[in-house]
Amino acid sequence: MSALLEVRNLQTHFFRKKQAIPAVDGVDISIKKGETVALVGESGSGKSITSLSIMGLVPSPGGKIVGGEILFDGTDLTKLTESQLCKVRGNDISMIFQEPMTSLNPVLTIGEQITEVLMLHQKMSKTAAVKKAIEMLELVGFSRAAQIINDYPHRLSGGMRQRVMVAMAMSCNPKLLIADEPTTALDVTIQAQILDLMKDLSHKFDTSILLITHDLGVVSEIADRVVVMYCGQVVEEASVDDLFDEPLHPYTVGLMNSIPSIEADISRLESIQGNVPPPTNLPPGCRFAPRCPQAFDRCFNEVPTLEKKEGNRSVRCFLYEGKEA
Ligand SMILES: Nc1ncnc2c1ncn2[C@@H]1O[C@H](COP(=O)(O)OP(=O)(O)OP(=O)(O)O)[C@@H](O)[C@H]1O
Ligand code: SF4
Ligand SMILES: [Mg+2]
Repeated sequence: MSALLEVRNLQTHFFRKKQAIPAVDGVDISIKKGETVALVGESGSGKSITSLSIMGLVPSPGGKIVGGEILFDGTDLTKLTESQLCKVRGNDISMIFQEPMTSLNPVLTIGEQITEVLMLHQKMSKTAAVKKAIEMLELVGFSRAAQIINDYPHRLSGGMRQRVMVAMAMSCNPKLLIADEPTTALDVTIQAQILDLMKDLSHKFDTSILLITHDLGVVSEIADRVVVMYCGQVVEEASVDDLFDEPLHPYTVGLMNSIPSIEADISRLESIQGNVPPPTNLPPGCRFAPRCPQAFDRCFNEVPTLEKKEGNRSVRCFLYEGKEA
């Protein structure tokens, strides 16, 4: 099956005082119809800038896509004008962010916000939009949807606001939903509810999801495939089962070892030594070498490439060079 989204060699840079900062440096991501792909990596690895690049929302001035292709349903989004992109954002790709309060307008009711989107992008009448808004709010679990539409965002809890965001994002029946840390700000029980809701809706409507998270526990719950990013690049890509059975890249292994589990003794939890280097000061050779427990001489001088391995997975590490996994 051909991919719904095919990001190829994406490069998004920030320009400051004539210096180019490679926030996203040659990223490939492929998402099939109905598939949920998780994008993971520590803070600063380029996850959000990758997703904002797909949406055509790179912070500007300063940020710019300088290379690569973003093929969505066969169209290269990097070649579209702002008004064409705006159409794609309203109809085909939706996004939800970490803190719904920043995306919801505090002076409009929940109903006004959902119907506004429907009337603008789906050209619905006011009556049809209100009906659809109530239907969407019921779908995301509000039993008093007809009342909720008259409420202002501040009247709702964080979890309820995030459910409103999911309702809003799904109301145009998008082909792709991009969720950037959608549950990080919520408590654990509510996180699970929102993830279940996203999973249900994606099955029901055959929506693909790009889920950005630094929580590998979340990934195992909901994703089909995982893309691991480090310093603006993909270092490993695999199905969830393969990745959890046998993580290959030493960075992925480090991330796995830092997942807290109920059985594990928290005091034994290992985290990866050192910090993510900023894109202004990348080490030569393998970008992970200064923190890698398995680094050897070559890693400090030569740059590993992302290589395809057996079983439809890829890894960027000299330990697996030329070897089948
Ligand atoms: N507006 C900006 N100007 C300059 N550099 C930026 C800007 N926004 C992001 N960056 C840089 O791009 C890199 C990638 O940032 P990004 O926000 O994509 O990381 P992330 O993986 O989403 O991290 P987090 O988990 O903290 O959300 C970072 O090093 C960041 O400093
Ligand atoms: S290439 Fe070397 S430094 Fe980089 S992840 Fe592999 S072993 Fe570690
Ligand atoms: Mg981010």
